Amino acid sequence: MQGPTRVRVKTAGRSDQEHYDRDVGIQITPSILTADLAALGAEVARIRSAEWVHVDVMDNHFVPNLTFGPATVEALARSTDMPLDAHLMIADADRHAPAYVEAGAGSVTFHVEAAAAPVRLAREIRAQGARASMALKPATPIDPYEDLLPELDMVLVMTVEPGFGGQKFLDLCLPKIRRTRELIAKYGLETWVQVDGGVSLETIGRCAEAGADVFVAGSAVFSANDPDAMVAELRAAAETATS
Ligand code: DX5
Ligand code: ZN
Repeated sequence: MQGPTRVRVKTAGRSDQEHYDRDVGIQITPSILTADLAALGAEVARIRSAEWVHVDVMDNHFVPNLTFGPATVEALARSTDMPLDAHLMIADADRHAPAYVEAGAGSVTFHVEAAAAPVRLAREIRAQGARASMALKPATPIDPYEDLLPELDMVLVMTVEPGFGGQKFLDLCLPKIRRTRELIAKYGLETWVQVDGGVSLETIGRCAEAGADVFVAGSAVFSANDPDAMVAELRAAAETATS
């Protein structure tokens, strides 16, 4: 695992500056999907030590569930200075993704299965000032997209079928995490590898060991008595697995 690198993250909620620099190594991005949605502002305040807030956008079309839109992202960006990591599980990502950067997301992930022109879309997201990320469902391999890696700041390897929180982690995705990390190293890139779905104290070590460095955790964090302490425990478990 590489040492921490310094990155620039767009944080729309900050009044003093649009960007700030920080060191990154292992990063935890709790999904608010399983938080108390009637008290989102307060829920985000319970995960202050996380690096990002993961916002699962679902359109009842690409996945059989319906959640948040740009208005929620905008409201969150106004209410917190934490950077927002928008995971778009929506059809026609080419058309809809830019609105999430405008709404204040610092990272926007589109599904390659839902993008007609992923290179153009990644460039557009970057040109708007956010990090561009591409997600792969469990049955989608990384190899056909190898040439796209230089266009991306992060690859999201889904470890459940997208659509719902609280599902069981799919170990069959581990070789793809490893393969993605190998391809990134082959090109000498600093692309992050995110995992999402069923990440817990029991599974995070396997993901980190395979090469992931950004970890989404929904139910593991928000079902804990102290979500912020769970963020720290997850980070420590990932660090132990890679040290
Ligand atoms: C699944 C979502 C995930 C999910 C994570 O479609 O993209 O972010 O909510 O929740 P857990 O950690 O409970 O699997
Ligand atoms: Zn997600």
